[in-house]
Amino acid sequence: MAIHGEITPPPDKSISHRSFILGALAQGTTTVRNALESEDIGSTRRALSALGIDIRKDGKIYLVEGARMKEPLQVIDAGNSGTTARLMSGVFAGIDGIVTMTGDSSLVQRPMARVIKPLELMGARFLARGGAYLPMAVRGGKLRGIFHPMEVASAQVKSALLLAGLAAEGTTTVNEPSQSRDHTERMLRFFGANLSVNAKSVGIPGGQRLQARDVVVPGDPSSAAFPVIWAAATAGSEIVVRDVCLNPTRTGFLAVLERMGAHIAVDGIRENAGEPVGDLVVRGTELSGTTIAGDEIPTLIDEIPILVVAAALASGTTVITDASELRVKETDRIAAMAQGLGCLGAEVEELEDGLIVKGPARLTAGMIRTHSDHRVAMSFAILARARGIDVKLDDTRCVGVSYPGFFSDMDTFR
Ligand code: S3P
Repeated sequence: MAIHGEITPPPDKSISHRSFILGALAQGTTTVRNALESEDIGSTRRALSALGIDIRKDGKIYLVEGARMKEPLQVIDAGNSGTTARLMSGVFAGIDGIVTMTGDSSLVQRPMARVIKPLELMGARFLARGGAYLPMAVRGGKLRGIFHPMEVASAQVKSALLLAGLAAEGTTTVNEPSQSRDHTERMLRFFGANLSVNAKSVGIPGGQRLQARDVVVPGDPSSAAFPVIWAAATAGSEIVVRDVCLNPTRTGFLAVLERMGAHIAVDGIRENAGEPVGDLVVRGTELSGTTIAGDEIPTLIDEIPILVVAAALASGTTVITDASELRVKETDRIAAMAQGLGCLGAEVEELEDGLIVKGPARLTAGMIRTHSDHRVAMSFAILARARGIDVKLDDTRCVGVSYPGFFSDMDTFR
């Protein structure tokens, strides 16, 4: 079904987490405007409150009072949020005391060794279930800077180490195999930190104090991707998506859509708190299959489920490889997307590190197991609407993790 309309996506999830965390670490009162109101951001705010940080809301603006963090008296529950668990691990490492953390049934299965190992080398101590999973306890304290070559590109790991590095003695340097989202680097600079950034390496000298700032969070490109792909892949559609963060480490999906033949124009580029922001004008057409692999993967890692939907709507074959990280997201997204598409009758092959989708898929009605993964749920909801087929999701509530207004927003299109 073709769509028309205008939409502002919800505020960026990654930038919202970082605004609260950096505000808590800074000297003075940070204001956060347009913060995402979602379950994951609630997890970060509650974790900071448990550490004694005062976060108040004045109308629509959050006020974060930077202060020395205290050992919490309760277990911190990161819920479904990997970003809370990983970034806050870097913060806990610098606190003089013991912090315990757990998460929901998905988060307790996600790998934490990637933050535990380097943070232990910096001087923190961890006691984790099976050595690598939540629940875990962290004994923080005096840290020293390290050089850490990461095995996988991960903004969460990089950010945990930069946040710990801020409190460490000496410089902490992180190298990544491909560049992941750089919101932490941009926001650290915006808060007055000094750091050295090369293509795939970031260094932060320890012992720096951040200064409170006023942050306005731009729209989330990962949430924008759902209506963008619906419109781009449906001839006759025309929509405008306003105030989208266009940080190049997040816009890989736009480059892929362009290769698939999509008509997307970027309008009114401006800068906001160190991040480029703009509006997208999307016109629908028939898309063709493509290959998505290599260094491009980290720049669209969260958009792969909805790109799989674009592949099913496009004509020709789409091959996605080098994406094994998808197997350790909120659910195994390779398996979940392959099973779901297969169940609707699409031709799809699951690879160890990706998927092959043959489009345009002939689809029938069906029931989808979302595994309570917000992006899997939203992807199949878009496929159903784009094709006008009856698709039942076993969980729709999970969209609240990143996009609580998803269904009502999608209903505004005509
Ligand atoms: C995020 C980084 C990515 C992404 C996640 C948010 C962040 O995870 O998938 O949704 O805000 O830093 P990884 O760092 O595990 O790739």
